[in-house]
Amino acid sequence: MGRLEGKVALISGGASGIGEATTHAMTGEGARVIVADIQIDRGKALAEAIGDAVLFVRHDVTLESDWERTISEGQQRFGKINVVMNGAGISLPAPIDQCDFDHWKRTQSVNSDGVFLGCKAGVKALRAAGGGSIINISSTMGIKGSSIFPAYCASKGAVRMLTKSVALHCAEQQMNIRCNSIHPGVIDTPIMDPFVAPGSTREESLAGFSSLHPIGRIGRPDEVAHLAVFLASDESSFITGAEIPVDGGYCA
Ligand SMILES: NC(=O)c1ccc[n+]([C@@H]2O[C@H](COP(=O)([O-])OP(=O)(O)OC[C@H]3O[C@@H](n4cnc5c(N)ncnc54)[C@H](O)[C@@H]3O)[C@@H](O)[C@H]2O)c1
Repeated sequence: MGRLEGKVALISGGASGIGEATTHAMTGEGARVIVADIQIDRGKALAEAIGDAVLFVRHDVTLESDWERTISEGQQRFGKINVVMNGAGISLPAPIDQCDFDHWKRTQSVNSDGVFLGCKAGVKALRAAGGGSIINISSTMGIKGSSIFPAYCASKGAVRMLTKSVALHCAEQQMNIRCNSIHPGVIDTPIMDPFVAPGSTREESLAGFSSLHPIGRIGRPDEVAHLAVFLASDESSFITGAEIPVDGGYCA
């Protein structure tokens, strides 16, 4: 028996990076997964590669109507939803004196509003299934500041505190719904592509980030996916409202 046998997970941002690795890890443990993402080609290719255990739905996390439609399609296909992972996110550097208002608003819209909508829709769907687990992907930058990412830091700090509020409400109301945040350090995914310098290899360009992590390297998406599997599983049944770094000691 897989550790997630019988469970159905919805993963926003599931077509790439950490979400894609989590889709592989969760289906590998017996879950069925709704991959919800704006990247249609990547999402379809992932669903085809894994097979019947994955449903891809084109989904924009900033639209409340997309949450309603995606959850309804997922419930029709798999019967229920037990896990919602809010993984979709964007990240571009712009220090405060270069960060225009549109950049700020777009970052909050995807990273913060998108997680709010995912928690709201997720609580409703999980209640209908008798309970479950919400997993919000924040960041080390939701705990520790960074001078070049003010909009991103603010959006990820919002996710960190939203998570605790959702966790406390669900616990107080005895909903059997847990809600936790994961705080990755720098992870080698497509979100890091803008940092690959022309004329340098990916390894050379990203090597500079290694020193942020006492462990001496950046992380891999599967290292975050392992924690997501644990939080989705009944092994984490007494864990809620927690903020858990996967960061090689970055925030220690
Ligand atoms: N890679 C890192 O270093 C790192 C570190 C800390 C936190 N994170 C967070 O991890 C999460 C996953 O990022 P990743 O590193 O896998 O990057 P990624 O770019 O590979 O994946 C992000 C996914 O989100 C999707 N997405 C973006 N906007 C969307 C929208 N409006 N609606 C639906 N989907 C949308 C993208 O299409 C993409 O598939 C993000 O929330 C990111 O902020 C990443």
